[in-house]
Amino acid sequence: LKDFSISNEPILAYRKGSQERAALKEALKTTAATCTEVPIVIGGKEYKTDKVVYQVMPHDHAHKLAAFYYADKKLLELAIKTAVETQTKWDRVPLADRLAIWERAADLMAGKYRQELNAATMLGQAKTVIQAEIDAAAELIDFIRIHAYFLKECVKYEPISENLKVTKNSLRYRGIDGFIAAVSPFNFTAIGGNLAYTPALMGNAVLWKPSDTALLSNWRIFNIMREAGVPDGVVNFVPADGPVFGDTITASPHLSGINFTGSVPTFQRLWKQVGDNLPKYINFPRLIGECGGKNFHFVHESADIETVVTSTIRSAFEYSGQKCSACSRMYVPESLWPQIKEGLLREIKQLKIGDVQDMATFTSAVIDDKAFKRITGYIEHAKKSSNLEILAGGNYSDSKGYFIDPTIVQTKDPKDRIMTEEIFGPVITIYVYKNSDLMEAMKLVHTTTQFALTGAVFGQDESFINCALEEFKMAAGNFYINDKSTGSVVGQQPFGGGRMSGTNDKAGGPHYILRWTSPQSIKETF
Ligand code: SER
Repeated sequence: LKDFSISNEPILAYRKGSQERAALKEALKTTAATCTEVPIVIGGKEYKTDKVVYQVMPHDHAHKLAAFYYADKKLLELAIKTAVETQTKWDRVPLADRLAIWERAADLMAGKYRQELNAATMLGQAKTVIQAEIDAAAELIDFIRIHAYFLKECVKYEPISENLKVTKNSLRYRGIDGFIAAVSPFNFTAIGGNLAYTPALMGNAVLWKPSDTALLSNWRIFNIMREAGVPDGVVNFVPADGPVFGDTITASPHLSGINFTGSVPTFQRLWKQVGDNLPKYINFPRLIGECGGKNFHFVHESADIETVVTSTIRSAFEYSGQKCSACSRMYVPESLWPQIKEGLLREIKQLKIGDVQDMATFTSAVIDDKAFKRITGYIEHAKKSSNLEILAGGNYSDSKGYFIDPTIVQTKDPKDRIMTEEIFGPVITIYVYKNSDLMEAMKLVHTTTQFALTGAVFGQDESFINCALEEFKMAAGNFYINDKSTGSVVGQQPFGGGRMSGTNDKAGGPHYILRWTSPQSIKETF
């Protein structure tokens, strides 16, 4: 039935003595040796302002990695003007030419620039080699290549033409008149690439506001895309203060969409500003947002203990729990708790926390001071509350880098705020339920938080799995059975959540590209 002939970018292993390991080491050395100066780029021209900002290494925050500039209101307005003018021309570039640029870019990312992207992601965003490889190499390349592939598939569709001798119907996929604002997060280099360049692929012009804490890796993407042939002005690289950026883009009549990943309050603020400005717009701006989660692992008494333990350690603590999909709460039946607890406490002791450049490091620092304060606030809450007990971890220090030990908390209260609020750090809280209270425990999962991003259930009992598929239908946009809640793969598990986790447009799926087009139906009569 399906003509599907594309595969995901292979993940490299970085074994001792391998070529990729040597190349990565070299890239790490050169990346760390300089504080890269990154300009604002609008229509291919470089700009600087008085507002200089630094990206530091989270695991060694005295070390500056990049110096960049915040675009002010005037420059943002220039970027809007440039994007709007460019959009009309770019949208006329034949699809085949655009697709060729995307294929070239994916090849550059997979080959020549793979280690530069990985090095910037490791040093700037505190990812270990494997976490960088699955993000800045594999996921980024997949977004570029597979969204282009989906577009190729999409244009194969021909509308019905009932009487071909007289009429012919067709559909063409236009960009959207105006400009798209892409606001990207720190936690995945790949997300930055996707948020800015998938709308561009579809014929749009973009203002890209990268995260301050992912600046260098995002800058490298921008340059690779230029080298691959994306014309000046199609994507404009405009780091900026969040509210200044938000106020300026939403005030423009030409705003045609926002592609956002970040916090709920920021997305709500942008949405409200769009609502307030609606009478001025020439389009109804598309609002696409991914806003976080409070992801769960739910264990049934029929679960395999080792699968639960390994999956939970990986989901909660890889990248220090800073994946949008990271598990942050777990529900365990009383009958399995002694063995699961023993397994978690055994495994957590093995985790090596430290410098990202050490290939044996399991996880490193959290991203910045703000995150450090927020996460340690939850740890302090756990230390003080009589309902909560810290079973492992709980220590932290920001003297050199923003280090927080992977922390396991047990709660007597399944509604404590540590079980309901997004922490976005290496802290997991576990609620042990009585086996006879299975249904009540399942209900807690989707009634105690505002989020519905990812979730996983563990169990061998088929009737439990069927019951979970019903009960958790609205609890997660990405749902896993006997696997961890992280690690979605582009084209395999399109990603996104419902409720306050976002608009669930499923990045990496076949329909995502459709959010960035305003198709035209054409009826030709002969
Ligand atoms: N792909 C990531 C995950 O599922 C999120 O972007 O962990």
